[in-house]
Amino acid sequence: MTSDDMTNPPIRYALIGCGGFGRFCLDQYKQMSNLKIVGVFDLDQTLCTKTAIEHQITAYTDIDQLLKSDEIDLVHIATPPFAHTNIAIQALNNGKHVLCEKPLTLTLDEAQCMIELARSQKRVLAANLIMRYDPLSQKVKQLIDSNILGQPLHGFFENYAADEPLPPTHWFWKPELSGGIFIEHGVHFFDLYRYWLGDFKISSAQHTARPNQLTDDGRPIMDQVNCTAIVRDYIPVNFYHGFTQPHRLDRQEMRIVFERGSIRLFEWVPTSYELDCILSKHDFEQVQTILQPQSFEITENYSQTDREFHSYNRDYLIDGRYRITGDVQMPKTDLYGHMVRALLDDQITFIHNPNHQRLLTEDNGFTSLQAAVHATELASQLGSPFK
Ligand SMILES: NC(=O)c1ccc[n+]([C@@H]2O[C@H](COP(=O)([O-])OP(=O)(O)OC[C@H]3O[C@@H](n4cnc5c(N)ncnc54)[C@H](O)[C@@H]3O)[C@@H](O)[C@H]2O)c1
Repeated sequence: MTSDDMTNPPIRYALIGCGGFGRFCLDQYKQMSNLKIVGVFDLDQTLCTKTAIEHQITAYTDIDQLLKSDEIDLVHIATPPFAHTNIAIQALNNGKHVLCEKPLTLTLDEAQCMIELARSQKRVLAANLIMRYDPLSQKVKQLIDSNILGQPLHGFFENYAADEPLPPTHWFWKPELSGGIFIEHGVHFFDLYRYWLGDFKISSAQHTARPNQLTDDGRPIMDQVNCTAIVRDYIPVNFYHGFTQPHRLDRQEMRIVFERGSIRLFEWVPTSYELDCILSKHDFEQVQTILQPQSFEITENYSQTDREFHSYNRDYLIDGRYRITGDVQMPKTDLYGHMVRALLDDQITFIHNPNHQRLLTEDNGFTSLQAAVHATELASQLGSPFK
C-alpha cells in the first residue's frame, strides 16, 4: 500500500442483488482494507436481511434510500442483466461510483448512455470483467507482446459448461432478461481475447436450441453458441459456449497458436497451462522468465542443419522443442476471489488517483458488449432466433 492509499479513507460500498455472485463478492470484498461494506438491497427481502445479518451491515428495504444515502460511495449492481441499466443510471445521478456486473447492460444504446453519464458525473463505471486480472492471463499477454513465439495466428476457446444450476425457469434462458449466452457469458471471453490480441470483428455466428426441452414460458432453450472473430484481419478466433454438461464434466480450454508453438490454458478462470514450442536456448530462457513454469521437458534436441527451418516466410535457428507446464498454485475459488478483489482494487486506486492507468475501463464494458450483440444478431439471422 502506498502512502497515498493510506491517507484515503476506505470507499463505502453497498451491494444491490444478493444472489449467488453478489454474496461471493461480499465475502471477497470484506477482506479489502480500502473498502468498507455498508449495506445491501435485494428485491427478495428475506435474502437481503439474511445477507445483512451475516455481514453485520444495513439491510435496505428501499433501493432509493440506498442510492441517495450520503453514507455510500460505490454501488455494486449484481442483479440479473436486465435490471443493470436503471439502477446504474440512478446510482450515477446520485453521484455514486458503479461496479456493474457483466454484461454492462443488454443494448449498445443503453451502454453508451451509461458511459456518457458516468463521464459527465466523473464517476467510475466498471463492468466486472475479471479475466484481465488473472495472473496467468497477464503472463500470456506478456508472452504475446514479447513476440518470442512469433505472431499469434489462431485463437480458440471452448467452454463446455454445466447446465445443472440452470433449470428451464432460470432468467439465464430468457433473452430479454439475460441477453442470451453471447451477452450474458461471452463478454468475459471477448474481453479476454481483446486484452490479449487487440480489436476484432465478429465474422460469423450460430446458435442452437436443445431439441427436447422448452423454458417454463414455452420458448426454445438456446444452449449452444459459436462464433468466429477476426483479429487484425488475419487471425481467426473461434469461440464456443455450451451449457449442456453435468457439473462434474464442466471444462474449458483456450488456445493461442503462434508461428513457433501454441499455448493451451485450462478452466474458464485459467488455472493451468501447457506450452509446446520450438525455440533457441536464448528464447527458451526468455519464455521461462515470463511464465515462471513449474516444469518443462525438452522433447526434441536439434543440432547442426536440424537447427534451421523456414516457415511462414521466415528463417529460424532453433535448439529444441520444449513442453512447458505450470499452474497458478492456488485453488480455483481462491484465484476467482483474487481476480474479483484485484479488479475492484484497481478501480479504487483510480478513484483516489485519476492518473492511475486501470487495466479495465468503462470502454471494455462497451466493446465486450458490442462483440456479443453483434454475434447474437448474426446468429439470429441464420434461424432459430430467440422468440
Ligand atoms: N463477474 C463474474 O465473474 C460473474 C459471475 C457470475 C455472475 N455474474 C453476474 O452477476 C449477476 C447476478 O448473477 P447471479 O448468478 O448472482 O444471479 P442470481 O439470480 O443468483 O441473483 C440475482 C439477485 O438479484 C436480485 N434482484 C433481481 N432484480 C433485482 C432488482 N431490480 N433490484 C434488486 N435486486 C434484484 C434477485 O432477487 C437475486 O437475489 C449477473 O449479471 C451475472 O452475469 C458475474
